[in-house]
Amino acid sequence: MNSTTIDFDRIPCERLPALLRTMPKAELHIHIEGSLEPEMIFALAQRNHVALVYPNVEALRAAYAFSDLQSFLDIYYAGAGVLRTEQDFFDLGFAYLNRAAAENVRCAEIFFDPQTHTARGVPIQHVVLGLAHACRRAHAEWDVHGSLILCFLRHLSEDEAAATLQAALPWREHFIGVGLDSSERGHPPEKFAHVFAQARALGLHVVAHAGEEGPPAYIESALDVLKVERIDHGVRCVESPALMQRLAGERVPLTVCPLSNVKLRVFDALSGHNLPTLLGAGLCATINSDDPAYFGGYLNQNFIETFAALPSLGPREAYALARNSFEASFAKPDDKARWIGELDALFMRAVAS
Ligand code: ADE
Ligand code: ZN
Repeated sequence: MNSTTIDFDRIPCERLPALLRTMPKAELHIHIEGSLEPEMIFALAQRNHVALVYPNVEALRAAYAFSDLQSFLDIYYAGAGVLRTEQDFFDLGFAYLNRAAAENVRCAEIFFDPQTHTARGVPIQHVVLGLAHACRRAHAEWDVHGSLILCFLRHLSEDEAAATLQAALPWREHFIGVGLDSSERGHPPEKFAHVFAQARALGLHVVAHAGEEGPPAYIESALDVLKVERIDHGVRCVESPALMQRLAGERVPLTVCPLSNVKLRVFDALSGHNLPTLLGAGLCATINSDDPAYFGGYLNQNFIETFAALPSLGPREAYALARNSFEASFAKPDDKARWIGELDALFMRAVAS
């Protein structure tokens, strides 16, 4: 079955919020440190005897008002300072996957930032093994497929990225790819050409943040120099018609994060987000939560608020976004086909009823 056999016009709009919530989907852009809720920050600070500058959860939450990416990263890296032990990383990963499974996420490809933790003396295996254990347990308990993508911090040097990859190699079986995140402006993808080449040679998947705050040229060099398989964010591609055409023609997935984009002032409001333009131009766009504990919601909240703010998005686009998320994932073909089959069945039932 495919989308052409589903009569989307026969699905009443009132059913859209329930469909968005219940449809099976993949989440491809979630920083696990960005799922660290204020309550967990305080609990871990107490468990690990870490002093916090905020007196309570409310005061911390009140500080979550950001003017741009850097203003967010400063508070995000400070929050991650409470993560110390393998158990902490297990708890963090397991809590996220619990929520994801409840939101009908079948597959979550989870970013983690080892350098944020090793810089504080946390052994890299505590990070990798804690998260990998969470993925295993969540799969057994809720049939959600979690996998890990090790991100390099782009404000640091390529040598530091290469040392991080080297340090992670004894635990290679526990992660499926590498990514590139943190402060984008002034840190173009080509700065990491060698370490990405090494990662590819090791058989790892490669993705990179590009075109969130940075220019379309960063998306191009992520594709041409790093040879990434997906672009994280990528929303600034609309500034280059030639790039838009290329992304559509090559079906390069974009992992778009609408609530993040508004919180970090990439767009003034969700109603002005360019997701409809991306889908309309035939790009393989997906919806993701980025850092849900900081940006006002997990994956389904991103879907619900985005569709509410953009009336041109309806059942056809809901289906396309969920289907794109499976297509763009690094899951096994059999798993993708099963999840897409489930998605088709749900939409066929919505038409029939
Ligand atoms: N790290 C966590 N969230 C990020 C984002 N939105 N952009 C770049 N780096 C990040
Ligand atoms: Zn991100």
